[in-house]
Amino acid sequence: MRNSYSIRVSSQKGGVGKTTVAINLAVALSLHNFKVLLIDADMISPSIGFFMGMENANVGIQDVIAGKADSSQAVIRHNVSGVDVIPGTQRLGELPKITNILSYFSKIKSSNAYDFIITDTAPGYWFPEFASISDEAVIVSTMTMSSVASAMRFAEIYGRARVPFNYVFNMVSDARYNITVQEAEDSIGKRAIAALPEDPIVKKSEAYHIPAYVLGPNSEFSRKVDDLVRFYSSRSGGIPRGSDDGKGLGKLIGNMLNRKRTMV
Ligand SMILES: Nc1ncnc2c1ncn2[C@@H]1O[C@H](COP(=O)(O)OP(=O)(O)OP(=O)(O)O)[C@@H](O)[C@H]1O
Ligand SMILES: [Mg+2]
Repeated sequence: MRNSYSIRVSSQKGGVGKTTVAINLAVALSLHNFKVLLIDADMISPSIGFFMGMENANVGIQDVIAGKADSSQAVIRHNVSGVDVIPGTQRLGELPKITNILSYFSKIKSSNAYDFIITDTAPGYWFPEFASISDEAVIVSTMTMSSVASAMRFAEIYGRARVPFNYVFNMVSDARYNITVQEAEDSIGKRAIAALPEDPIVKKSEAYHIPAYVLGPNSEFSRKVDDLVRFYSSRSGGIPRGSDDGKGLGKLIGNMLNRKRTMV
């Protein structure tokens, strides 16, 4: 079994699409036959449960870290994609201890049960030690000057902490005052590993509580998520055999939803 590769999805600024990127990356990798654990490590305002139809989960990451539950009690299998999810829990005024986070994370990483461990985070640089044990951070930015500037400042923090990082642009559109991918890449001095479009499928997927990659497998958004799959699968020795590219299952779900709509 390969070593788990851990990716921390982050941004300095809120609302840029971290959770959307974390979920769709996890789902896409899983539908390409990788074993994926998705952790909602946004301990300020967790939302993965809502986006994936697991909003009623009452055991979550903070319980695991605090030793009040073990992973097997907290993990929920997302049936459609096969992703194992540890949902977030919000315990006001009770942020977990760093030492607990470190020992939990090291344990799960060294168990090698997963090809990828993807963590969604709250905006900002919470739990720096947590970041330093991630193999890589993804910095998500939208195409506004303030977002790109904030992403560049965030990159400096990762640089100082010696955490490798990559950029993902999100909500790319030709809106008049947006900056272009080219302009953003010129400013940051690096190519983004994906430029995900602003796409109505994402809002629809939020309303349906079904990840966009599953709900709209042929959408422009999902095709660009495939750029991320290609990037990360090459880090993991290629796409495992037996993969159907994730398209078959996605199509099936799309058809079922269409049928349901025509029935009501
Ligand atoms: N590519 C996209 N196209 C259209 N809508 C999008 C796209 N990406 C995200 N959104 C929408 O933007 C909103 C914010 O996305 P999301 O919750 O993923 O951001 P976030 O960075 O995780 O926010 P927070 O900082 O609050 O955790 C959501 O309503 C989501 O559906
Ligand atoms: Mg979020």
